[in-house]
Amino acid sequence: TGPETVSPTGQPTGADQARVAQSGAYLTTAQGTRLYDTDHSLKAGARGPVLLQDHHLREKITHFDHERIPERVVHARGAAAHGVFRGYGTAAGVCRAAFLGKDVETPVFVRFSTVLGSRGSADTVRDTRGFATKFYTSEGTFDLVGNNIPVFFVQDAIKFPDIVHAGKPHPDREIPQAQSAHDTFWDFVTLHTEATHHTLWNMSDRGIPRSYRMMEGFGVHTFRLVDADGGTTLAKFHWKPKLGVHSLVWEEAQIINGVDPDFHRRDLADAIEAGAYPQWELGIQTFPDTPEQTFEGIDLLDPTNIVPEELAPVQPIGLLTLNANPSNFFAETEQVAFHPGHLVPGIDITDDPLLSGRLFSYLDTQISRLGGPNFAQIPINRPHAPVNDMLRDGMHQTAVHRGVAPYRPNSLDGGCPFLAGADTGAYVETPVQVPAAKKVREAPVSFADHFSQPRLFWLSMSPVEREHIIGAYTFELGKCYEQAIKERGLRVLANIDSELCRRVAEGLGLPAPEPTVPLAEVAPSPALSQVGRTWPAQ
Ligand code: HEM
Repeated sequence: TGPETVSPTGQPTGADQARVAQSGAYLTTAQGTRLYDTDHSLKAGARGPVLLQDHHLREKITHFDHERIPERVVHARGAAAHGVFRGYGTAAGVCRAAFLGKDVETPVFVRFSTVLGSRGSADTVRDTRGFATKFYTSEGTFDLVGNNIPVFFVQDAIKFPDIVHAGKPHPDREIPQAQSAHDTFWDFVTLHTEATHHTLWNMSDRGIPRSYRMMEGFGVHTFRLVDADGGTTLAKFHWKPKLGVHSLVWEEAQIINGVDPDFHRRDLADAIEAGAYPQWELGIQTFPDTPEQTFEGIDLLDPTNIVPEELAPVQPIGLLTLNANPSNFFAETEQVAFHPGHLVPGIDITDDPLLSGRLFSYLDTQISRLGGPNFAQIPINRPHAPVNDMLRDGMHQTAVHRGVAPYRPNSLDGGCPFLAGADTGAYVETPVQVPAAKKVREAPVSFADHFSQPRLFWLSMSPVEREHIIGAYTFELGKCYEQAIKERGLRVLANIDSELCRRVAEGLGLPAPEPTVPLAEVAPSPALSQVGRTWPAQ
């Protein structure tokens, strides 16, 4: 499958090229010429100078010199697996996507990652984890590019470079936040109080998962689902691990970082190799698609919010099973390119400003990371649905397109490819009403409450989970060099809960400040405190 290719010389093309690069019994140059020696440079005499005319030496070293590609600007460290997704058919009432149909099986590729560390960093650091799934559906590729934490640090994508600059290793000494330098991260998240909710999740046990197999996943944003009649429903996606949600404790995580920095990567690969295939149920929370796009007073376009499962239960819609390890890390795990804009009929976006920026960012970064605009032709990125596009040429073009008329309409090439309609599988955007409004650079008033949901999370924690959170804040803020940042951190905690603030202040040896906003009145959500428990009950 993939772009239709022909080879004028009759050689295999596309996926078969991998086989071509490793066929035949003899070692050859890249041009197929057989080699008699690959251990010695061509020299003038056994001890003589090396000759420039040694093509094999130059080819071997030149190729090696270019083996590395840039690592991802975020989520550089990851591990991935192949699998299958089986729809339950239970989403049919709200979503027309074919892959969600009853017993429809769709191949998938899932990449888990940390966010801030480089490609060679350790697995069990305190961080958010990526959970990105590529569904190779019959209607085109759908990517659900999520995290293991259901909220995000910033409400607007224009601030994404800022949070990432603040979280990456210090620019002067290149010391990662997770070791001894913490000032930039805490500087940012205490100045931007919208980051409080995500940071609190990071400081909880969710920030140090036991295994990729034991994490929840979240699409974070609210999406718009479209049914067969064009009716719409707002929804949030959830992955629920069959093994339950489990975490490490901080001391374990630190020891494992030193003893086995590949702990999560190894755990995933070993489990699959042993036949203990990890499974997750995909579920949706659904909300009426009203003009306000709110639910029980919660702004559904604000990615720093969750909707408690007590208010909107997660309804299971399918089962993911990971059952095969990649055969080549670079070809698959490193070159896979996810994009939140890879959507299929039945799944549409909302106006969440964080999502809007993401729709631009992924394609843009992949053009430089994967060397040009043709990375959809890399085997791991090829759709399993037929492709017939008018995209031509460019760096790393491997398809040999036929015809002379890659434009529409045309009267050559025996006629244009057909345009589909909604009834023949076209992706048709939902005709949502756009409000008449002035252009402004500002956030809506409904994005202003930064503390109610963090307080909800804190109050939902069990006593032992609270101890872990207190310990994490005390450790992390304690690593800041700047006293002013520690004090500002305590002012943020005072607005979540006075006990949390008091205990961390005690640990830091600083006075506990008073809250600057009234502490929100919220009812704890037992469903938020899932660590060490199994879902669904087994
Ligand atoms: C990569 C999730 C917000 C830019 C990733 C990956 C995940 C992810 C899982 C790794 C994909 C992989 O395994 O290859 C999320 C989530 C977000 C979010 C859940 C918020 C809800 C953003 C925003 C931006 C952004 C706001 C930019 C405006 C990127 C970039 C990459 C990336 C540039 C690297 C992609 C690549 O090189 O292939 N993100 N992200 N992300 N994300 Fe995000």
